[in-house]
Amino acid sequence: MTETNPSRRNASPSALEVRDRLARPLRDLRISVTDRCNFRCPYCMPEEIYGESYQFLPRDEILRFEEVERLARIFVAFGVTKLRITGGEPLLRRDLPDLIARLAGIEGVEDIALTTNGVLLERHAAALAEAGLRRVTVSLDSVDPETFRRMSGRGAEVERVFEGIEAAEAAGLSPIKLNCVVQRGVNDEQVVDLARRFRGTGHILRFIEYMDVGTLNRWSLDEVVSGAAIRERINAVFPLESVPPRHPGEVARRLRYRDGAGEIGIIASVTQPFCGGCTRARLTTQGRLVTCLFAEDGIDLRTPLRAGASDSALAEIVESTWKGRSDRYSEERSSRPELPDATPRRIEMYEVGG
Ligand code: GTP
Ligand code: 5AD
Ligand code: SF4
Ligand code: SF4
Repeated sequence: MTETNPSRRNASPSALEVRDRLARPLRDLRISVTDRCNFRCPYCMPEEIYGESYQFLPRDEILRFEEVERLARIFVAFGVTKLRITGGEPLLRRDLPDLIARLAGIEGVEDIALTTNGVLLERHAAALAEAGLRRVTVSLDSVDPETFRRMSGRGAEVERVFEGIEAAEAAGLSPIKLNCVVQRGVNDEQVVDLARRFRGTGHILRFIEYMDVGTLNRWSLDEVVSGAAIRERINAVFPLESVPPRHPGEVARRLRYRDGAGEIGIIASVTQPFCGGCTRARLTTQGRLVTCLFAEDGIDLRTPLRAGASDSALAEIVESTWKGRSDRYSEERSSRPELPDATPRRIEMYEVGG
């Protein structure tokens, strides 16, 4: 039942297997529960665009918990075993434990995780665990208070995040993963400090190559620090060795400290894309089915859902969308560096939660 069980890559025995055009099954569903965030990370929600007057989604456009549950059941029937709750910042969604409890009650769901910036985690960790959440991933780009304040875009205190991580650990939401997006000239000099801080804690620190998600962050390849370079920086201070993947298609390459101080991961989505094993679907806050992090848009499930479509009619939309899927953006980009500018509209990170 935990993430370490490799059998979780198999669908539940009663599921109807569905494969896309590249023969990839559907295994993971990432559910965004809000488009709001209490941070303004410049690479995701730049303050100059998402200022005080920015209009987030009105309440009636956002899927209600019973709607999310109903759609999740349909995805599970097609082989999804793992759910991840994302945002925006998912802890801003009121009564989130109620949704977790509904999802945890779906037969065939083996793993429910949540990605958060951690600031509100201390307050919510126990109730989420009680409701059936298994683990959390905390986004943490720096352990230096000043860099953290700047990168959060809202002057947030990194201490709050540390407290959140402790509360999550106390609530049993482990293994806790920490995601650090590395941007050249912003926090790349700090990767060793991050490693030092979390060695020996049992938490898994993962470094993510900065990606060209969305259209607002003015991404450029110059700002990407390769996974290989990140590995080298850490290896020079704390020697590392590779660990075999837990399952095919795992996004992070696993490494461990040779001295036994634990594991880290490198997510090299730009320099070493992993589309071949991509079994992830994403459900946006307003109920659109997105088949790639870099998609222009998604397929609307909310309109038919609210118009009274039956489960089998909704299942048909999901099935035909997945069967028609041929996305492999990151692999294509690595052979066509000009790609980011060629696509005028792309879903933003805060709409699909990574
Ligand atoms: P677990 O294995 O469940 O712990 O989750 P995960 O490894 O999928 O981790 P997580 O969801 O935290 O993903 C980490 C980061 O990797 C995301 O925030 C994205 O930045 C990146 N990522 C995840 N899925 C994809 C994907 O399908 N494509 C690309 N290009 N990047 C992804
Ligand atoms: N590149 C890589 N990772 C990103 N994230 C947000 N934007 C980007 C980007 N452009 C990360 C966040 C969080 C997760 C949801 O995705 O830091 O950990
Ligand atoms: Fe919020 Fe996460 Fe986007 Fe930062 S990266 S603005 S924490 S949704
Ligand atoms: Fe999957 Fe698209 Fe990411 Fe490739 S780029 S791994 S297809 S989400």
